This record gives sequence, C-alpha cells and structure tokens, in this order.
Amino acid sequence: MRPLPANATFAPSNHSIESGSKRVNEKNLQGASKEVNSNQEGIHPDLALLVRKHLNSEYRKPIALHTQEAFATAVNWRKEQGFSRPLILDSGCGTGESTWHLAQAYPDHLVIGLDKSALRLAKFPGGTPSNMLLLRADVVDFWMLAEAQHWHLALHTLFYPNPWPKAHHLMRRFHAHPVFPIWLRLGGRFELRTNWRIYAEEFACALTYAGLAECIVAPLVTQEPWTAFERKYRVSGHALWRLQGNLDF
Ligand SMILES: C[S@@+](CC[C@H](N)C(=O)[O-])C[C@H]1O[C@@H](n2cnc3c(N)ncnc32)[C@H](O)[C@@H]1O
Repeated sequence: MRPLPANATFAPSNHSIESGSKRVNEKNLQGASKEVNSNQEGIHPDLALLVRKHLNSEYRKPIALHTQEAFATAVNWRKEQGFSRPLILDSGCGTGESTWHLAQAYPDHLVIGLDKSALRLAKFPGGTPSNMLLLRADVVDFWMLAEAQHWHLALHTLFYPNPWPKAHHLMRRFHAHPVFPIWLRLGGRFELRTNWRIYAEEFACALTYAGLAECIVAPLVTQEPWTAFERKYRVSGHALWRLQGNLDF
C-alpha cells in the first residue's frame, strides 16, 4: 500500500481551508495553542492492567440512534460505490480535511470521515470527491457496528484524538477505552497522530499488550498539514508524533 503523501494540498471547491495560502482559517494561524498539560510524566501506571482487562472482556453498550442511522448510510453508500473497494476510516475527522486528503491519495479506496461534531463537519467547504463520505457519528458506536458486521479496514486514521491528559481520564483515551479490542479487530493499517508524545507511547504499549510487536512512535515530518489541528499545532511550534502499524497480524 502506498505511504500517505506528505505534500498534497487541500483544495476542495471553494478553497476556504486551502493550506499554504492566506485563506487558511485565521483562528488556526494565531500560533497560541497550548502544549498538552498533564499530571502524567510517562506511561500511566494502570495502563497495562486496564488494557489487559479490556482485552479479556466483551464490551457492550446501547448504540446511539444517530450513529445507527449514520452506519446505515455508510452501508448503503458502500453498496453503491462497490462493497469490495478497500475502505479507510478517518475517525474523529473534525472538519474533514484529512478525509479529503485521504480520498485524493487513495482514489481506488472508499474513505469515510467520522466526527461527533456537526459543527466541525459543517466547516467542510464542499467539493467532496465521489470516494469520500463525511458522517456525524460517535466513533465508539460506529466501530462497534462495523465490527459486528465484520468490516475490515485497509487503513484507519486517528488524527489528533482528544488526549484526555489528566491521569484520572485514562479510560477516555481510545487505547485505554473498553472499545479498544473492537478497534483492533477492524484491522488494516493504522496511523495515529498526536501532539502529546505520551499518548502515542501509551497507544504503542497498548498494542504490544494486544500482541503487536512492531510499533514505533516517530516524529511527524510533513510539509503540509493534513488537518486543522495539525496546522494549529505546527504554527504553535508543537512537536508532533506519529504511530503507524498494521493490525492484520
Ligand atoms: C482534537 S480534534 C481533531 C480533529 C481533526 N482530526 C483534526 O486533526 O483537525 C478531535 C476530534 O475528535 C472528535 N471526537 C472526539 N470523540 C469522538 C467520538 N467519540 N466520536 C466521534 N468524534 C469524536 C471531536 O469532535 C473532534 O472533532
């Protein structure tokens, strides 16, 4: 599979979030984004116990109606577009900018961007390529539905998930959430990006508890930001981190 190109430019129809130009969202150019502030100095001491507990349990919860509807839309769309086409999920896609980049980079794949915020999704300026779909959904619920239907992903991206940096919020981080084993079973390659190194390191540890041996946290070096948060963090001078791997092991 091709690597994600670093130099693609975001240029949907009305260019309102076009990167590399004066029209980039002004709020994101202030360069005043604060670094993640946490009372953790390293991997959370409870991580191993918690992840192993989740790996040995079956997570169940009621699925929100709006995500059931979003999932039904996704199923129909995949049928229309060709169910056998490889699938990319861009979970927590925010304004959909990264979803657009992925759709451009993988024209033979179907790319679904998911975010719970209708406000953020509404900022996508239009010009959606035919292989891209944006949906308002809770990713936890969506992953559960997708896994129950045996979806298998070619690539799963998590770009700048909320870090939940307070130690007592550990279980809200995706790798320490009970949905983690379900996320793992969706398979495929994955890429996590974050401005909090500990988040990436914890994620990598959680993966090793699940049996994934090769998973390295590396600095993210790109010429063009792929997301609104990435742009904001870059302008603010934050170090950015990337974790990539393959869940089909
Ligand atoms: C820090 S923002 C990053 C957005 C985008 N990936 C970017 O880099 O610009 C985190 C995003 O995750 C979304 N999010 C957090 N929890 C979610 C959930 N359970 N389901 C869907 N979206 C979620 C938020 O609405 C928000 O847009």
